[in-house]
Amino acid sequence: MNYNKKTVKDVDVKGKKVLLRCDFNVPMAKDGSGVITDDKRIRAALPTIQYLLDQGAAVIACSHMGKPEPSFEKWAKKQTEKGKDPASLTKEKWEKSLEALCMEPVAKRLGELLGRDVVLAGDVVGPDAQAKAAALKSGEIMLLQNTRFEKGETKNDPALAKAMADLAGSDGVYVSDAFGAVHRAHASTAGVAAYLPAVSGFLIQKELDFIGGALANPKRPLVAILGGAKVSSKIGVINNLLEIADTIIIGGGMSYTFAKAQGGTVGDSLLESDWLDYCNEMIAKAGEKGVKLLLPVDTVIADKFAPDADSKVVPNGQIPDGWQGLDIGPETVKLYCGAVKDAGTVIWNGPMGVFEFEKFAVGTKAVAEALSETDAITIIGGGDSAAAVQQLGYAEKMTHISTGGGASLEFMEGKELPGVACLLDK
Ligand code: 3PG
Repeated sequence: MNYNKKTVKDVDVKGKKVLLRCDFNVPMAKDGSGVITDDKRIRAALPTIQYLLDQGAAVIACSHMGKPEPSFEKWAKKQTEKGKDPASLTKEKWEKSLEALCMEPVAKRLGELLGRDVVLAGDVVGPDAQAKAAALKSGEIMLLQNTRFEKGETKNDPALAKAMADLAGSDGVYVSDAFGAVHRAHASTAGVAAYLPAVSGFLIQKELDFIGGALANPKRPLVAILGGAKVSSKIGVINNLLEIADTIIIGGGMSYTFAKAQGGTVGDSLLESDWLDYCNEMIAKAGEKGVKLLLPVDTVIADKFAPDADSKVVPNGQIPDGWQGLDIGPETVKLYCGAVKDAGTVIWNGPMGVFEFEKFAVGTKAVAEALSETDAITIIGGGDSAAAVQQLGYAEKMTHISTGGGASLEFMEGKELPGVACLLDK
């Protein structure tokens, strides 16, 4: 994939309307209070927004939020499949589910961060959005409603894409800064680029530079640390990194499937029996390719999945029944931290254990600390690994923390990202 894309600096936006796709899909408090619990993604879009406003553009920002179901019938069907009593599924409840995913809290927070008003449209391409976009002047910013309120968004409906593009007018420009959503071929992330000149914002440019750079031309040795619960969710990444990395380190829940594949016992640990052969194939492939594949040598086991579980350290693959592995052990910590020390580049995706429980966060913390101390370029994939680094207090010490969860994973898998492919080449 060509990562060399035109950016906001390559187009003249003065006096023009810019349709700006952001990823404002931020976590919200579960109590329905509309409180944003982490505004990192909004902050990450600020440099591009500020630049566009300073250049004299009128900015029509848009984003999805969550996974709303824009049809009552489909919503009711899904709820029924989840076991809800069909008689309890009213239109009011469906509307409430949509209300919880409205963009009001984002418009408010964005306004606070920018120190200026953010006009919020009541719809995506309806009369309110059209009127507000038409009235928007240079240096002003508005936000459309949740793009997924439109049925055509996730289907990449050309009519919706055109209607969004039309908001920016005949000399409008499309800027994408929604790195977290570039793996989605949706109307607002990809389709719209058919109707407007399309360039990237600074955030996408930064993500492409760091992640793209580490994959295409890494400072070696390149060490990839892969963790998280499931082997099955990391197959694409392991396959791709086996072609690129010098060392691959495996930790987290998925390491128990590797341990079992090698003839070990894993007690009640997470196990994906369908992937045992795959693990052995990967171990063999790493050997053929001369990639160092590091697996845990010991593991911290617990008598239950709980923060106050009884725990002890056992050699890897020797977990008794009734116990489950929740973290890498101290010898593994030494091994993994040593491998990071002399790296040129480290890519990290997925925690080493259940870091949400303090008692089982030791391995993840030690790896984060090792990354904070190495001279290597350190790149943290989004999602759980980014959350771990932040929660453990090492965020400032990393070279780059991706704002994309699924997007950074698909990037590391070497897949084409529709939201990047659609942008103009330099
Ligand atoms: C994310 O949170 O990873 C992005 O906003 C994409 O969201 P999605 O998985 O609902 O498409």
